[in-house]
Amino acid sequence: MPDLSINFCGIRSPNPFWLASGPPTNTAYQVMRAFDAGWGGAVWKTIGEPIINTASRYGSIDLKNERMMGLNNIELISDRPVDVNLREIAEVKKRFPHHTVVASLMVESKRETWHDIVRRAEDSGADLLELNFGCPHGMSERGMGAAVGQVPEYATMITSWVKEVAKTPVIVKLTPNVTDIAHMAVAAKNGNADAVSLVNTFNSIVGVDLDSYAPRPAVAGRGSHGGYCGPAVKPIALHMVSSVAKTVDIPISGIGGIGNWRDAVEFMLLGATSVQVCTAAMHYGFRIVRDMIEGLENYLEDKGFASAMDIVGKSTPRIDDWGNLDLNYKIVAKIDAEKCIGCNLCYIACEDGAHQCIRVDERPSGDLRHGVDLRHVPLVLEDECVGCNLCALVCPVPGCIHMAEIDTGRPHMSWKQLQEARGKSPQCSMEDAGWRRLDETPKCFEGSWRPRRSRCHRRLTRTC
Ligand SMILES: Cc1cc2nc3c(=O)[nH]c(=O)nc-3n(C[C@H](O)[C@H](O)[C@H](O)COP(=O)(O)O)c2cc1C
Ligand code: SF4
Ligand code: SF4
Repeated sequence: MPDLSINFCGIRSPNPFWLASGPPTNTAYQVMRAFDAGWGGAVWKTIGEPIINTASRYGSIDLKNERMMGLNNIELISDRPVDVNLREIAEVKKRFPHHTVVASLMVESKRETWHDIVRRAEDSGADLLELNFGCPHGMSERGMGAAVGQVPEYATMITSWVKEVAKTPVIVKLTPNVTDIAHMAVAAKNGNADAVSLVNTFNSIVGVDLDSYAPRPAVAGRGSHGGYCGPAVKPIALHMVSSVAKTVDIPISGIGGIGNWRDAVEFMLLGATSVQVCTAAMHYGFRIVRDMIEGLENYLEDKGFASAMDIVGKSTPRIDDWGNLDLNYKIVAKIDAEKCIGCNLCYIACEDGAHQCIRVDERPSGDLRHGVDLRHVPLVLEDECVGCNLCALVCPVPGCIHMAEIDTGRPHMSWKQLQEARGKSPQCSMEDAGWRRLDETPKCFEGSWRPRRSRCHRRLTRTC
């Protein structure tokens, strides 16, 4: 049985699945029930000077039958006194000494105030501290949260204040509302952060009521921008985690749209040691962790990994600069005629949104050997297909269109290699590198480039 436990900055957690700071980690009652359900750790709802929240405070986007595809909130940090939260952390640690409890902190940007809260949080027995430099609303107007996390110098300064007194490892939670989150990770590291977590929520307004003109969620007819999270933000969060993992060499706790074991594994492959979940726990409850544990266990076993730690960062080297990708790699769309239902969605997508490589006026007439009439199946002009994938993405039948690799016989050639070859040999052109300009008919292809099937006769590529 693979070992699911992780080592995060020297702290052992029974598994990588942590609840993120938010409503599910508001009280000891909730965190203890979460640990009983199987969560390996919990980041407490951010502790600081208690605030007053509004009603309502959540808004969401549904996608057809998927409710809460994206969740927006204008909630602030904990509305409970600091000493109550810290007393409850101590109770949880007493009952669950081997689970990971992280105290999330946000206080005024004053050195003594940070020193004081760090000492008190550590006295409660918290295993790690997470500095919330990310709240995009409400707290930033008070000079906290994103107001700190968007200015590298402030982030470095406050982290270093914390590190002056902290005995436990310090995680800096990053806001995605910046131009380059990796730059902010460097700022945190410069302040001696032991780890970073990302992402916090994205600045957003999820909608406007067309009758009352009020944004959602509305507070007595008015609203404010809030923080967006849930499944909709996962791709952006994944990119941010991978970019941070390529830039700094400290542990990462990955957050953003994680709802099942597959999402969690993706974050881990891109560099996260632990993963944090908020929206999915709010939507489906603590029980989702059972499937996450089982799924991760099976995945590790199937792939022959002994420990969850073995997959951390495994995909990081595969995220490359676009300029290094092989321009001579070619794939084309292939339609499985027996699965095709003749809906023509692929034809429409390729005709209007791609490269006009699918024909419906030249369909195969039928395959009598298998007794199947194929006249409903569109025809892919493989020679013209640029392998963009769009038809496969829109096809409603699973596995009906697949992208097949074509052996062009040409060696690997990236844009950088092409530039290099051109530098060495100025006459090296796109044609020399094995491409042809489509100046012939049909008219709509005029001027665009397609890889030639035949080998470049002058071999003006990496080897030229
Ligand atoms: C209602 C709500 C309240 C939140 N409160 C906090 C908070 O107090 N401190 C914090 O660091 N993050 C807070 N977050 C952000 C989450 O911890 C997390 O970073 C974000 O929701 C992305 O994860 P998800 O897509 O799994 O929800 C909150 C999120 C939500 C939805
Ligand atoms: S992969 Fe792109 S270009 Fe090729 S047939 Fe499909 S939509 Fe058209
Ligand atoms: S989208 Fe898929 S099912 Fe529809 S016609 Fe194209 S290949 Fe057939």
